[in-house]
Amino acid sequence: MKTNDALIKERNQHVPQGPFNTHPIFAQKAKGALITDVEGREYIDFAGGIGVANIGHCDEEVLKAVQDQIQKYIHTCFHVVMYEPYIELAKRINTIAPGKFPKKTMFVNSGAEAVENAIKIARHATNRPATIAFEDAFHGRTLLTVSLTSKSKPYKLGFAPYAPEIYRMPYAYCYRCAFGLEYPSCEIHCAYFLRTFFTTYVPAEQVAALIIEPVLGEGGFVVPPKEYFKILQKICQENGIVFIADEVQSGFGRTAKMFAIEHYDVEPDLITMAKSMAGGFPLSAVTGKAELMDHPQVGGLGGTFAGNPVSCRAGLAVLDQFEKKNLLARGKKIGDRVMKKFKELYEQHPIIGDVRGLGAMVGMELVVDRKTKEPATAFTKQLVTRCREKGLLMISAGTHSNIIRPLMPLVITDEQLEKGLSIIEDSISEIERG
Ligand SMILES: Cc1ncc(COP(=O)(O)O)c(C=O)c1O
Repeated sequence: MKTNDALIKERNQHVPQGPFNTHPIFAQKAKGALITDVEGREYIDFAGGIGVANIGHCDEEVLKAVQDQIQKYIHTCFHVVMYEPYIELAKRINTIAPGKFPKKTMFVNSGAEAVENAIKIARHATNRPATIAFEDAFHGRTLLTVSLTSKSKPYKLGFAPYAPEIYRMPYAYCYRCAFGLEYPSCEIHCAYFLRTFFTTYVPAEQVAALIIEPVLGEGGFVVPPKEYFKILQKICQENGIVFIADEVQSGFGRTAKMFAIEHYDVEPDLITMAKSMAGGFPLSAVTGKAELMDHPQVGGLGGTFAGNPVSCRAGLAVLDQFEKKNLLARGKKIGDRVMKKFKELYEQHPIIGDVRGLGAMVGMELVVDRKTKEPATAFTKQLVTRCREKGLLMISAGTHSNIIRPLMPLVITDEQLEKGLSIIEDSISEIERG
């Protein structure tokens, strides 16, 4: 087998630099919460392929479902010859998604594609052009979704002009409040600011949708206060604006509920989901109010590979495994453990400025100085590298790339979890010692 270095040389020769790589290693195999590279080195996976492996790598039931499906047919295109797994999965998702109203679901292939479709549906249903998005948001890399995305480097640089009619508000990022306020004395000013926004930025009558992540993913695991989404949704309802929860990263059990917005007791008009929904197979969805979902004309939505039957069978197996293995409860346990450990580390290491989380979506923000909150971007990069050298795969997040965001599979064993956490602890101490 080729070495990592030999493969990196080939990669650089044949693949452009744009598609980035966090770790200079190539996979040989992956199972549960472990990845083995081509040189036989085993790593504990705290990245989960960026939140795709909530039910673990190569889950047995997913493998069985996929093997059964590929014996029958792999692709007929839903728009040419329909197939049952698409309908079955739509039915199941309509049942589990929040909302006590009739729902419908359509499938596409990636998170970005789900977001694109949700915006199209909202525009069609309202006959309005504008979308409100948020600072520190990440919604994808296609031209519309990168326009919705906030972080300018590397995502936006050089790709202008962006899609028009996108207006951006501050998110409820309490650690770095855009209004310089503190919760709860702020009285959730950042949510009520939406009313001012209609006066100073874009008239409500022109706004089709407000799209928001219930917990910021790429933006750094930022968890808004409990009142936040209810206020935003109420203002949207008053103004006929479609409220879209982008659950591409926070969904599918990551926060110990199937969808993070359930923690806030809010029923979004539309929900986008992807990542962990098909155990590693490409699949994404838009689920929402039937009257909205049915608005676009026949042929207005879809795609050649959209809702591939193999991915849909994998998606059905994922839902079965969540139930059989009680993965939501497991996610809560993992999240509690990570939170406890990160809080202990906070007490010992001034480099940690903030620890926050919801369910198993727990992050720590690293700062050079707790008073100035200057992002510790270089330290974070070193930490990710040092952890890998010690056998733990991690990824960072945040507009300043200074946030550690563990996305370990929820099937991780206690032993693997403890080992991963102690690698983080040891690595922080070692880097601090210099
Ligand atoms: C909240 C959110 N929306 C959309 C996307 C885009 O998903 P994809 O990379 O599958 O296009 C991501 C990806 O990280 C995400 O976290």
